[in-house]
Amino acid sequence: MTTDATETTVTDEAVQSLRGTADPRVRELLTGLIRHLHAFARETRLTQGEWEQAVAFLTETGRTCTDTRQEFILLSDVLGLSMLVETVNGDREAGATESTVLGPFHMTESPARALGANIDLVGGGEPCVVSGRVLSRDGSPLPGAVLDVWQADGNGFYDVQRPDTQPPGNGRGLFTADSEGRFRFRTCVPSPYPIPTDGPVGALLRATGRHPYRPAHIHFIADAAGHTPVTTHIFVAGSDYLDSDAVFAVKQNLVQNFTETDDPALAREFGVPNPFRHARFDLVLERTA
Ligand code: BEZ
Ligand code: FE
Repeated sequence: MTTDATETTVTDEAVQSLRGTADPRVRELLTGLIRHLHAFARETRLTQGEWEQAVAFLTETGRTCTDTRQEFILLSDVLGLSMLVETVNGDREAGATESTVLGPFHMTESPARALGANIDLVGGGEPCVVSGRVLSRDGSPLPGAVLDVWQADGNGFYDVQRPDTQPPGNGRGLFTADSEGRFRFRTCVPSPYPIPTDGPVGALLRATGRHPYRPAHIHFIADAAGHTPVTTHIFVAGSDYLDSDAVFAVKQNLVQNFTETDDPALAREFGVPNPFRHARFDLVLERTA
């Protein structure tokens, strides 16, 4: 492999061109980006044709984005970058709920709902109850904590993907924990679903022989005064694809049982047919330093 003068000097020249950057963090990030991109091109001996293909791919990724579709986040997700950024920043103290990826479907505001409300506005899926508490790491409850919840319907689609069959806000809710930090809502048991494959990210998955499925899950962002918000999921124990999530987002301690529950009194209290599936877990937040 030959290395001519330009091959080595262009990297330094490009890095030097940043010396007027006012913000030191911007300079650091762009310096790293240039160095790593150049190293990638050198290491792989990237051809002109391959570079053009990459530009066309990124152009198509941009063209695929709309107000309700974020193909760049999807690309970051399937490359494992979103999960890596989560992990780099998600250094939680022991006992605090772990974070995982935001995903591309948190793009509309969740409607505020009363505790106990049903977020499954369409029906058809297996009814279930999700309940628990929002706690500080020392175990004290966090009354007034806000939980933003979103999930796909029983067929594996988010409301924004199927505006023809789902009303806006289906599968979504903004809940405020009660005076003891408790939350509860009704929904349907989520199912595994494929991430969108009709765009450039789908083409990338096919070209690399990868499946597009995510294990069944519900998304949460939990936020409480004086605490660091957490963006996370709960995954349904026993779901397919727990060991091969297309976006690498599964953490074992986020896997929860959706227990088959035969309790007519509780079913009445929750307003669901008996028996029903019940996921119970606590969300534990860290105090802000
Ligand atoms: C999701 O869970 O909504 C999701 C996350 C990453 C990519 C696609 C979908
Ligand atoms: Fe999801």
